[in-house]
Amino acid sequence: MSAEKEGDMLCFFINGKKVTEKNADPETMLLSFLREKLRLTGTKSGCGGGGCGACTVMVSRYQPATKTIMHFSANACLLPLCSLQGAAVTTVEGVGSTKSRIHPVQERIAKAHGSQCGFCTPGMVMSMYTLLRNKPQPSMEDITQHLAGNLCRCTGYRPIIDGCRTFCQEENCCQANGAGDCCLNGDKNDDEAEREKPRLFNNEEFLPLDPTQELIFPPELILMSESASPQSLTFQGERMRWVSPSSLQELLQLKTRNPAAPLVMGNTNIGPDIKFKGTVHPLIISPTRVMELFEVTQTQQGVWVGAGCSLSELQSLLEKLLLQSPQEKTELFRALIQQLGNLGSQQIRNSLGGNIMSAFPNSDLNPVLAAGSCRVSVISNGGRREVPLDQNFFVSFGKTILKPEDILLSVFIPFSRKGEFVRAFRQAPRKESSFSTVTTGMRVFFSEGSRVVQDVSIYYGGMGPTTVSASKTCQAIISRRWDEETLSRAYDVLLEELVLPPSAPGGKVEFRRSLTLSFLFKFNLEVLQRLRDMNVITDEVPEKMQPLPKEIQPSLQEFQSQSEQDPVGRPMMHRSALSQATGEAVYCDDIPTTDGELFLALVTSSRAKARITGLDVSEALQFPGVVDVITVKDIPGKKVREMCGYEEELLAESEVSCVGQMLCAVVADTRAHARRGAAAVKVGYEDLPEPIFTTEEAIEKSSFFEPLRSIERGNLTEAFKTVDQILEGEFRMGGQEHFYLETQSMLVVPVGEETEFNVYVSSQYLSFTQDAIAETLGIPSNRVTCHVKRIGGAFGGKVFKTAILACITSVAAWKTNRAVRCVLERGEDMLITGGRHPVLAKYKAGFMQDGRIVAVDIQYFINAGNAVDESIVIVEQIPLHFENAYNFPNLRCRAAACRTNLPSNTAFRGFGVPQALMVLENMINDVAMALGRPADQIREMNMYEGPSITHYKFAFSPENLRRCWQECKEKCEFSARRSAVQEFNLQHRWRKRGMAIVPVKFGVAFSESFLNQAAALVHIYKDGSVLVSHGGTEMGQGLHTKMQQVASRELHIPASKIYISETSTNTVPNTSPSGASYSTDANGMAVKDACQILYQRLEPIRKKKPKGSWESWVMAAFLDKIRPDLYMDWEKMEGQPYAYFTFGVCCCEVELDCLTGDYRTVRTDIVADTGKSVNPSIDIGQGLGLFTLEELKFSPAGLLYTRSPSQYKIPGVCDVPLHFNVYLLSNADNPHAIYSSKGIGEPVLFLGSTAFFAIKDAVSAARSDSGLFGPFSLNSPATPERICLACASPLTQKIPASKPGSFTPWALNI
Ligand SMILES: Cc1cc2nc3c(=O)[nH]c(=O)nc-3n(C[C@H](O)[C@H](O)[C@H](O)COP(=O)(O)OP(=O)(O)OC[C@H]3O[C@@H](n4cnc5c(N)ncnc54)[C@H](O)[C@@H]3O)c2cc1C
Ligand code: FES
Ligand code: FES
Repeated sequence: MSAEKEGDMLCFFINGKKVTEKNADPETMLLSFLREKLRLTGTKSGCGGGGCGACTVMVSRYQPATKTIMHFSANACLLPLCSLQGAAVTTVEGVGSTKSRIHPVQERIAKAHGSQCGFCTPGMVMSMYTLLRNKPQPSMEDITQHLAGNLCRCTGYRPIIDGCRTFCQEENCCQANGAGDCCLNGDKNDDEAEREKPRLFNNEEFLPLDPTQELIFPPELILMSESASPQSLTFQGERMRWVSPSSLQELLQLKTRNPAAPLVMGNTNIGPDIKFKGTVHPLIISPTRVMELFEVTQTQQGVWVGAGCSLSELQSLLEKLLLQSPQEKTELFRALIQQLGNLGSQQIRNSLGGNIMSAFPNSDLNPVLAAGSCRVSVISNGGRREVPLDQNFFVSFGKTILKPEDILLSVFIPFSRKGEFVRAFRQAPRKESSFSTVTTGMRVFFSEGSRVVQDVSIYYGGMGPTTVSASKTCQAIISRRWDEETLSRAYDVLLEELVLPPSAPGGKVEFRRSLTLSFLFKFNLEVLQRLRDMNVITDEVPEKMQPLPKEIQPSLQEFQSQSEQDPVGRPMMHRSALSQATGEAVYCDDIPTTDGELFLALVTSSRAKARITGLDVSEALQFPGVVDVITVKDIPGKKVREMCGYEEELLAESEVSCVGQMLCAVVADTRAHARRGAAAVKVGYEDLPEPIFTTEEAIEKSSFFEPLRSIERGNLTEAFKTVDQILEGEFRMGGQEHFYLETQSMLVVPVGEETEFNVYVSSQYLSFTQDAIAETLGIPSNRVTCHVKRIGGAFGGKVFKTAILACITSVAAWKTNRAVRCVLERGEDMLITGGRHPVLAKYKAGFMQDGRIVAVDIQYFINAGNAVDESIVIVEQIPLHFENAYNFPNLRCRAAACRTNLPSNTAFRGFGVPQALMVLENMINDVAMALGRPADQIREMNMYEGPSITHYKFAFSPENLRRCWQECKEKCEFSARRSAVQEFNLQHRWRKRGMAIVPVKFGVAFSESFLNQAAALVHIYKDGSVLVSHGGTEMGQGLHTKMQQVASRELHIPASKIYISETSTNTVPNTSPSGASYSTDANGMAVKDACQILYQRLEPIRKKKPKGSWESWVMAAFLDKIRPDLYMDWEKMEGQPYAYFTFGVCCCEVELDCLTGDYRTVRTDIVADTGKSVNPSIDIGQGLGLFTLEELKFSPAGLLYTRSPSQYKIPGVCDVPLHFNVYLLSNADNPHAIYSSKGIGEPVLFLGSTAFFAIKDAVSAARSDSGLFGPFSLNSPATPERICLACASPLTQKIPASKPGSFTPWALNI
């Protein structure tokens, strides 16, 4: 063994093939090895930090001791290549392929419509595949647990779960167990009509799961493992050396000589540090072959668990012990199991020792281990010793009392004693796969048969830089009776003991303090219940603590299908779903590298408002592999992009106006070299005074982008004089990150000799990118051809900034005359590209006692950031939509875009409309509360009825809106459930239910008339196959599938004969953006026109041979402004800015834990007017996260904190409504769009707000128990923090609020 010896040969298997690697670099992760070296691009990169699951693979290992093979899922982005010695890796390509055999998992996710943009699909497939390898008939609980670490931004998870559910044993059951009418009760529904209803997919056609068909574990690896020679392994990379000792003795020697070298087990802590913080460890020690670290020994007192055991193994072990031991002995085990089930995701549940030694302040295990009096066995050159895991163990952030040369060998977890109770609680921003905000372990030990406390121990995580002990609180409890008096003193002591300064890192100060009390209160209730169950006390327990419900039921979707022969109107599978599920689908970064290709990495500003005093690139240019640095001086053409009369620099020249503004770019031979080069660029700044961050600051300084927009109807002043009541209020809605799973990606390839470029770019608006590149390079547009096959989600975020990034990349390609690729890291993408505009609104409503709202005056301010981007267009959408579904006789709406020093916000699904409607619906809610009336009555009373005209004089019929409303109320049994909710609330003090029903009316089309056009090119080849090209981008919305359906209907041929290869500017020029829910309408019409022309041309041939085949007609033939003008006149305040309106109504019920702010969506019913849906499987999406979960946080210096999925939470599988019913309105025609369908993508997004209003309803019930009535403030998103504080429980009311202005908060309220 020597750290200095030559590198060894790494040997492992991928998809059954042996891989040997002589020069494995410790810094290389499996993900880049798969994608770049082996060209296995099915495994995707969504975040690089373990937070999204897009890179999930299965790792299998042979255990010589037990002679068993273990399969587990892992995130390839954090899995060091060097750690794979002796492992068999399976990637999505090894699971199945369209060329040979697709695997049932791939087939079912695809056919159940669980793949839209498809970027998350390989990861989903691999998580599910791993589960099935371990358990071929999983339960629903297993499925949700295994998918918890896989994020999807498109599907809302419902179809993914529906597809995976077909593997469950209980799948054929109606799942209504317990509701009394379960099919297993023999009470089958024989109604023929019911069975005839069209279904989204047909289970009967699925391939069966046959475990014998799976790849076998390579026998060579079993042999290798059995005969492993006890020698250390060494791998030497460019900057780091990896040594894997084969014995404890070797490990000890190595660690003694190199105390600073980290021990890498799962790499989920060390890995992100190396990657994101640039930490370099010259030596890394991998102790995974040291058997002593994996030993498990049971004793009379408890169990010793090796520090190397994974958290999943620990969980299985404790579950096994649970079955073997009496309940009183397993209190601590149960608490640990509960925490382990919620800790991170399957993919990152790595080593126990790693979790303890990482000493995260919000580790979920450490507080429980400490409260449970666990201890650790430590070994160093000086020998072995035992160290208690108590308050002295954790010394500061990420640091324990152990010395650098110490090795954690094992952890002792004791059995509990009779009279001892242990509990764990955690509250996280998202229920699963999320670090806790606050987490706790609590233990109390009573003298036998008594309520007197002999011992108590309470630890918290998330309340400071370390796991902390509430020792003073424990002192206040010990030796006392466990009763109300003791506990109420304990709350007061706890409040004084765990104080957080108002600007504490992580923010949420009041919430965190409140949680410490809530958890103790919950513990109290549970202990009382146990003492009562054991007949120690007879006290009435106020309320039994029950977890929120979590069983996801099969979803229901009702729609009218069209005839079997007609391809339109049927739930046709996304045309690329199978290739997405097998990993064969090609995204921009999957395109193979070309000879001499370079990679581009950006250098961005670290200051919000400053003069650039110097840009020193000399050191960067010295770095290995760095070829050049691109600055503004290199741009040969236009150096800015213009929008609405404002300019945005491509690269900042003399000043910066936000953190994250692009300054220059480094191009190098590899990604790693480019990024290292970028990190070495030195920028000098001189700060400029008074940066503006918040909307309030912008209003105060009149910092706006012009023009402001305003619209008015009736006479407000007079109306306010006549109303019964006036209510004024303010509402704030936060911004949102697009979080498309595929980050901004592009490849620019110089071709030909006349400055010609092929650009492969993940863009929603190809022509815009093409024109921008041409202007930047000073060449005509005909020299630039942009291509896009598909994109991994966009939601509005791949238009403007994408074009700027493509311009910079093109300059690099032009200057170096080499192909240049740019793919942003998740953190960079989130930092640079902006998102949805946060809104601050002030409203004034005048209404009558009977609920009629007669006067509405709302002023909206959106935080636009440092550049105008599309903010003016968004400002225009607000007044045009803000009245939603209501006819207010007198109204005024004003909207302004605030110019601030934050990264510029941009287009986002809904284009400002969700924000506009949210403010209005909140106002209506407040009016209802002020009147003490149900909000649905106020909504219904004020809704448009009969032939109507909007405030901008656009005539329309609200008939379908009213139909949606009535149908939704009936389908969701609104009245009966409303009464049930009230009954529930009477019976529960700490859990409340809430319900809301909200309509949406959404204008479809771009308000700029010229964007509402499209073109298509249809080729019919001699063999009868058809190639369709159109101007829209496939980004998961199923546009290509729908266009295939349109062409299929018009040419009267099966969809299988039609192919759509890509979108490119040389087949269809002057494309419009894919957005505004208008792509199907515009492109569909173009495809229809083109097909009709061709079909018409074939007519003479068809007539001549009416019985001939399509192919014969085609061969014989070989031998032989769409919209009325849309406009808006802002002077006259009238126009027809939309083609038509899409309507929808949603009813939602939630259950709330008032003590923590946690909630669960119990049921959601949507009735949507999609016209005659072109494809009912594609026309349903999601919108919950915006209103209840997603929160951007900026530092007081304007730096975005939330730059990864660990910090920014989008919904996960755990957020799916437990009952989810969707009804597409029947017999709904739309004469204004293709085949009477309607644009639906954006309109339904707002329906997610219903969850917000249901939460607000539940909060209102909780407040009334605290004696608080009437309107109250709850801003969006309704996060657990906001919910908990708004509930205003007696515990929360104990927390003193910090005086605004007396401190600098950790995060800005922008
Ligand atoms: C996306 C994500 C989500 C997460 N969510 C949660 C969560 O919700 N709750 C939670 O509690 N944790 C969470 N974690 C943390 C995760 O559980 C830990 O990172 C993991 O358990 C550490 O194990 P590892 O084997 O990967 O450690 P490694 O990264 O390999 O090592 C971590 C540290 O421990 C040291 N170390 C490891 N073994 C020993 C040993 N035997 N002796 C001495 N030192 C040792 C290493 O030197 C290193 O400093 C999350 C992590 C990620 C990436
Ligand atoms: S890319 Fe690996 S978890 Fe996101
Ligand atoms: S389909 Fe899941 S991210 Fe797009």
